[in-house]
Amino acid sequence: MKVRKGVFLVAGLGTRTLPAAKSIPKVMLPLADKPAIQYVVEEAVAAGIEQVILVTAAGNQAVEDYFDTAYRLEESLAARGKQKELAELQALKELATVIGVRQHAPLGTGDAIRTARSVVGNEPFAVFLPDDVIDGEPPAIRQLMDVHEAHGGEVVAVMSVPHDHVDRYGIVEGTPVAAGIQRLQSLIEKPPVCEAPSNLAIVGRYVFTPAIFDYIDRTPAGAGGEIQVTDAINTLAQEGPVYSCEFTGRRYDMGDKVGYLSASIDLALKRPDLRPGLAAYLRGLDLDNMDPTP
Ligand code: G1P
Repeated sequence: MKVRKGVFLVAGLGTRTLPAAKSIPKVMLPLADKPAIQYVVEEAVAAGIEQVILVTAAGNQAVEDYFDTAYRLEESLAARGKQKELAELQALKELATVIGVRQHAPLGTGDAIRTARSVVGNEPFAVFLPDDVIDGEPPAIRQLMDVHEAHGGEVVAVMSVPHDHVDRYGIVEGTPVAAGIQRLQSLIEKPPVCEAPSNLAIVGRYVFTPAIFDYIDRTPAGAGGEIQVTDAINTLAQEGPVYSCEFTGRRYDMGDKVGYLSASIDLALKRPDLRPGLAAYLRGLDLDNMDPTP
């Protein structure tokens, strides 16, 4: 069955992105001139996702508003003949059908995903952690959807990370079935470096069958006292097929300040309208003679 729905977990508190994320959701922080969430939604739409389900929380209304009509703004742009800006806002609204659901407490990724259960219904679906912005062609989630269509089951995105970083990620262990694809035996959330079974880390893209919801319901709180979707997938992997897909593309971690800045620069350099000015500025930087402010 075709994957038509994407669940986007945007309810995070943004503690790694403070102070910027104190009063705006971290996924609304701009990369070049668009909020991070827009890149992730564009990735989904390019992959064929038709319905965007935003899992929000109190204080995150800005994310839903961003994909909604801004009536006063649009009326004012129309009155002033600003057709280009108006068309841009129109295109944003036409990207996909957007539905918001609320997570009532920060109880973890597993809990956030099950918040979307009634909207997802009984069909396979994609999940996006928009902290991970991925610049890939084909879109990273499309690569996972292809694995799901070929093999069935659940699919998680993975990439190699340095061994001493494994305690920041969900880590997988599996047996190769094709180039870049493994059938997983186990998944463990943020293991200590000495206990990690590999250095293949989960990145925030998943394709799930509706079976995942029952496994989440059976999952007790794990790492950080939260209901971790990694634990639910690990239990499911003992009973049914779960695959990892080592996607091609560049992943930026929005929760890491250097990752965020790198994404902003790289994505702006890919834009024909921004590249000439920004490239000239970067070429002119005399990095060795710029003192960091203490
Ligand atoms: C989440 C997942 C983890 C994954 C990571 C990727 O962790 O729980 O398995 O490796 O995203 O970014 P978080 O970074 O939200 O703590």
